[in-house]
Amino acid sequence: MYSRASAVLFIALCCAGPASANSIGTEHEAPYEVCALCHSLDGNSRMAKFPKLAGQPAPYIEKQLYDFLEGRRTNGGGQMAAIVTEISTEDFAEVAAWFASQTAPAPNDQGDVGAGEAAFRQLGCLSCHANGQLEDGTPHLTAQHKIYLKKQMTDFRDGRRDNDLGAIMRSAMTGISDAQIEDLASYLSATQRGTP
Ligand code: HEC
Ligand code: HEC
Repeated sequence: MYSRASAVLFIALCCAGPASANSIGTEHEAPYEVCALCHSLDGNSRMAKFPKLAGQPAPYIEKQLYDFLEGRRTNGGGQMAAIVTEISTEDFAEVAAWFASQTAPAPNDQGDVGAGEAAFRQLGCLSCHANGQLEDGTPHLTAQHKIYLKKQMTDFRDGRRDNDLGAIMRSAMTGISDAQIEDLASYLSATQRGTP
């Protein structure tokens, strides 16, 4: 369920577009500006349910945009499926490059992280999500919003998110408890992102 506030934001976004294009000449607006309402122009979103995009690998961002557009990835409020139709697929690469080039987010302050760090190592997550050193299709997890991370881990575990090639994330999350997800999210969210 999405809050009334985000519904209002979305309505404001969808319905203000054409009018502002006529009145203040925004036809040359960069395509990533429509993303700023939720993700911030610098990709460091303030609200926890909107993921931080800053510094994510461009191929990862671009893959997600196609996945939302073509229905392989969904989110409850439907915001992403709607917004990706507002920009042209010809702009996907530019939009992805913009957010990829923004300064990586600062970690969030979430308290105790020891249990989560141990779980992250024991469960083998580091083999793909090495902090700061990633394959192109793999997202950074460090300094991401905790609520967003918890939702994605739970969605993979319970099969609500299934856009991971080869089901690698669904298998990685198999059998992981809610308590472990809580620990993992606390650790990742509070950890400074490493440099590539
Ligand atoms: C109305 C709010 C809203 C707007 C505007 C919006 N997004 Fe999103 N975006 C979301 C939400 C909510 C999610 C998380 C979906 C979920 O829970 O799985 C998301 C997720 C994403 C993700 C996945 C991130 C990850 O780590 O997997 C990407 C990439 C993304 N958005 C890019 C964009 C781009 C590019 C634009 C502009 C063209 C945009 N978004 C505009 C709300 C928005
Ligand atoms: C074999 C490689 C691999 C392993 C092991 C792995 N992941 Fe992933 N993970 C990925 C890839 C690739 C994606 C992106 C999937 C997609 O295309 O949407 C991902 C996505 C994620 C996301 C979503 C991030 C976002 O921005 O939406 C989270 C959270 C995550 N992984 C956590 C974990 C945790 C926790 C573990 C250990 C239990 C783990 N991963 C193990 C490869 C891996």
